[in-house]
Amino acid sequence: MMKNIEVVAAIISSPDQIFATKRGYGEFKGWWEFPGGKIEQGESREEALHREIREELDAQITIDTLFETIEWDYPDFHLTMHCYLCTLENDNYTLKEHEDARWIDADSLFSVDWLPADLEVVRRLSLLHSVRARHSIRRYIDKPLSQEVIDKLNEKIRECNEKGNLHIQLVVNEKRGFNGIMAYGSFSGVSNYIVMAGAKSDTLGYRIGYYGEQIVLYAQQLGLGTCWAGISYRKIKGAYTLASEEKIACMISIGYPDEGGRVLKRKTSEMVSNISVDSPGWFALGVKAALQAPTAVNQQKFFFELMPQPSGCKPIVKAKALPSMVGYTKIDLGIAMYHFEIGAGLSNFEWSDTPFRI
Ligand SMILES: Cc1cc2nc3c(=O)[nH]c(=O)nc-3n(C[C@H](O)[C@H](O)[C@H](O)COP(=O)(O)O)c2cc1C
Repeated sequence: MMKNIEVVAAIISSPDQIFATKRGYGEFKGWWEFPGGKIEQGESREEALHREIREELDAQITIDTLFETIEWDYPDFHLTMHCYLCTLENDNYTLKEHEDARWIDADSLFSVDWLPADLEVVRRLSLLHSVRARHSIRRYIDKPLSQEVIDKLNEKIRECNEKGNLHIQLVVNEKRGFNGIMAYGSFSGVSNYIVMAGAKSDTLGYRIGYYGEQIVLYAQQLGLGTCWAGISYRKIKGAYTLASEEKIACMISIGYPDEGGRVLKRKTSEMVSNISVDSPGWFALGVKAALQAPTAVNQQKFFFELMPQPSGCKPIVKAKALPSMVGYTKIDLGIAMYHFEIGAGLSNFEWSDTPFRI
């Protein structure tokens, strides 16, 4: 049987930066990682983390909450890595074991070579940054998408179509969908959009939201702006294909932004969940990320419930859509659930009977 090594790691962050250290010894010398190390016998995870950071960085940290537990198979051993969100108590640190350390901007997290297990955490941190940075973009500059960007988007779309059993399609260089006389809303310069289609089904809306938002956040990481549109578009025959059993649920405009987008008022966590002072940190992060999700007319008609569970069992969260005069609540819920997963971390909880198969 492969040896199992259990470690703790500190994701030390400031609002827009993450602290990374470069291994100065051993097999993984030269790779970047979150500081931390093995739990010694008799130590709690938190005690181990405080000790490791003192030993490696000669620094004091405040441990905020468990972010993620990574299970990773390296060639010679299995790694269980509990990663905690932390802050440095003051700006001082001294490298005792690492050969380098760096504060990395949240939008360039992939600029160093992370160890594979740490890279899993970095992917989620990067998505969380995109969740915070995204706002609906309705004004675009006149700059075509490069073939490289189109290929990347199409690859992401292919993956989402496969997982979600959908027929999402990217339409490029087509200006009538959002800008014609029949299109409403304050959109300008839209030359590309994504047709959010699939076979008619009770679960179509949820899947469109859940997988569509994966494309939206991916686009954000490529430097593109997007806006979901339930009504502000017009169907242009010939721009896409639809089988007879399929329908268009909505569209998403996409392109290079000509504006920063607006920060809109959101509901509070208490209004959209059963959060309390006793709720675990990951649940609070999940609800917060869901609150940053786009919803039709910013209605936020969703609710996340942390279900009572015997201790020791994996926590269960139930997500549901609330009644609305506007509609689109299934799409909204699918989007919000994806955001919740990014904030809460899928290693921390399981969904209870989701309205669709993830
Ligand atoms: C399902 C759905 C449909 C939407 N339809 C439209 C639309 O037709 N026109 C529009 O201008 N914005 C539309 N939006 C964008 C929302 O108005 C926007 O997401 C919300 O106001 C929150 O703003 P934010 O995305 O900047 O956070 C839609 C969003 C969703 C999720």
